[in-house]
Amino acid sequence: MNQSSKRGGIGALGGIVAVLLVGLLVLIIIAYTGSYNVAASEDHGEFTRWFLETTMHNSVSSHAADINAPERFTEQSVVLGAREYAAMCEHCHGAPGKRKASWAEGMLPQPPHLPDAVPEWEVNEVFWLVKHGVKMSGMPSFGLDHEDETLWNITAFVMQLPAMTEEEYNRLTASSSGAGGQAQGGHAH
Ligand code: HEC
Repeated sequence: MNQSSKRGGIGALGGIVAVLLVGLLVLIIIAYTGSYNVAASEDHGEFTRWFLETTMHNSVSSHAADINAPERFTEQSVVLGAREYAAMCEHCHGAPGKRKASWAEGMLPQPPHLPDAVPEWEVNEVFWLVKHGVKMSGMPSFGLDHEDETLWNITAFVMQLPAMTEEEYNRLTASSSGAGGQAQGGHAH
């Protein structure tokens, strides 16, 4: 490498560092001046939405990659998961034939109507999402106060949602609350 190309390399490096510093300064100004609007009543810009969704999807895929899902789920697992879903998820995510609660319409990002959103995710990713939640979105982590077995039951039920009719949903969520006491003690085979 001769002297002038060496100097060119140092110049380019200096340029990159300068750009990074300006970027950092802009972020600090945004943080301190309150100029960024955090209102949930106003949608994200195109870029922010793309950035958040892409980051979220890839993060979940990568973090869930080592989780081994059961080969198949038992009927009992689905029935137990149905009760949990009706109690903890339906108000935010809706269900076959049911819309989310009206207050959940005011969330940003919007909790998706889960029967439509599930086909985008693998089984292990749904389990991971329910266990860990999603930062800065309002999707809670249910792993703090639920055993993995319960989280798999919820996952088992969630995976059935896309093909489920409203009648099936009503039957599953109604029967699970009636038979819950008995079913909970048993082991899935
Ligand atoms: C307080 C509202 C709220 C509750 C309760 C809630 N979620 Fe969520 N959930 C969200 C939000 C908001 C997102 C979107 C996150 C994002 O897009 O970054 C989400 C995303 C998800 C996703 C990923 C779907 C997608 O394509 O974005 C799954 C799967 C999911 N939730 C399952 C559940 C299950 C199962 C339960 C119940 C055990 C549950 N959630 C309870 C708010 C909620």
